[in-house]
Amino acid sequence: MTKQHSSDVVWHPHQVSKTARAHAKGLNKSAVLWFTGLSGSGKSTIANALEQRLAQLGYHTYLLDGDNVRHGLNRDLGFSDADRVENIRRIGEVSKLFVDAGLLVLTAFISPFQSDRQLVRQLHDAGEFIEIFVDTPLAVCEQRDPKGLYLKARAGEIKHFTGIDSAYEVPLSAEIHLHTADMNIDSCVSAILQYLTDGGYLQPRG
Ligand code: ADX
Repeated sequence: MTKQHSSDVVWHPHQVSKTARAHAKGLNKSAVLWFTGLSGSGKSTIANALEQRLAQLGYHTYLLDGDNVRHGLNRDLGFSDADRVENIRRIGEVSKLFVDAGLLVLTAFISPFQSDRQLVRQLHDAGEFIEIFVDTPLAVCEQRDPKGLYLKARAGEIKHFTGIDSAYEVPLSAEIHLHTADMNIDSCVSAILQYLTDGGYLQPRG
């Protein structure tokens, strides 16, 4: 997959800085909120609710969602280990661009492998990668089964399904750990907003 890029391709420095772009969008600094968790854990639901809240407060955001990105940019990728690695690598690069654009980026991908999340973390500057573990037990995700996919995976109709016959490696040092069994969506959103406020990401709104 990886090709050597030409040594004649030279990085072009921008005249407008990342910080200047972030300031123009109401932020002291841009960052990616990287939601990770099982299918059906609530990543997209929480990310959507948070994005709505941030928009109401006047902050500029962009949400990258697994199911949607797999219809476009990553439509050539499936769910083998190698394809998941490539899926997360591309999303990592896209989120880095959007962080450079000065946005608060929200991503909702299972991103099951620790090493891939670590690679994305390393792509970003310190404080720009905020890992959010949406910690919902497999039994709860399977009971919810909003897309009917766990049922199919148990029946052997879908192979390599995360949590069933493909691994999910639990984050060991996530910045935010949401125990969704004890928290509703509002309290998850509030916990993340508090993190952003305490970390000085948001310019105060009058
Ligand atoms: S990731 O593992 O590469 O990060 P991603 O978040 O993009 O996965 O896509 C996960 C979504 O694809 C799930 O929410 C589910 O709707 C769908 N899906 C289809 N097949 C699978 C599978 N084998 N394992 C997990 N999710 C699957």
